[in-house]
Amino acid sequence: MIAMTVKSVTLVAATCCGLLLSLPAAAQFDKAEDAIKYRQSTFALMGHHFGHIVAMATGKAPFDAQAAQQDAAIIETLSTLPWKAFGPGTEGGKTKPGVWKEQEKFKKLADDMAAQAPKLAAAAKTGNLDDLKAAFGPMGGTCKACHDSYKER
Ligand code: HEC
Repeated sequence: MIAMTVKSVTLVAATCCGLLLSLPAAAQFDKAEDAIKYRQSTFALMGHHFGHIVAMATGKAPFDAQAAQQDAAIIETLSTLPWKAFGPGTEGGKTKPGVWKEQEKFKKLADDMAAQAPKLAAAAKTGNLDDLKAAFGPMGGTCKACHDSYKER
C-alpha cells in the first residue's frame, strides 16, 4: 500500500518534470550555468548515495540496513530532480548534444530510472541484504543506459 503511494507520487513527479523539459531554461533558472550546476549537483549526490548502496550490496562496505534505506530514499527523491534542468539553451557540462536532439528517448530513460527508484527504496526498506542485492543491478542499469548515450566520460 505504501509502496503504491510512493510509486504514484513518483509517477506524478516524473510527468511533471517531463513537461518542464520543454520549458525555456529561464522559466526555472536565471542562467544556463545555474541549470548545469543544479543537475550536476543532483547527479553527484545520486552517485554518492548509489555508490554506497553498490558497495554494501557487493560486500565492499559493511551492510547497514538503516543507511541503505536512507540512501535509497534520497535516491528516490533525487531521481525526480535533474530533468527540469535540461531545458533549451542549457547545453554543456558533460552532456552529449543528443539530450536535446532526442528528447523523447532521453525522457524515456529518465522515466525508467524514476520507475526503478521506488523499487530500490522498497527493497532497502525490507532490511534484507538479499533484496538490496537483487535491486541494485536493475537500478544501475538505468543509470548506465542513459550515460552510454547521453553523458561524456
Ligand atoms: C536519463 C539520463 C540519465 C540517467 C537515468 C542518469 N544519469 Fe547520471 N548523468 C546524466 C547526464 C546527461 C549527466 C551529465 C550532466 C551535466 O554535466 O550537465 C550525468 C552526470 C552524472 C554524474 C556526474 C555528476 C557531476 O559531478 O558532474 C554522476 C555521478 C551521475 N550522473 C550518476 C548517476 C547515477 C548514479 C544514476 C542512476 C542512479 C544516473 N546518473 C542516472 C544522465 C543520466
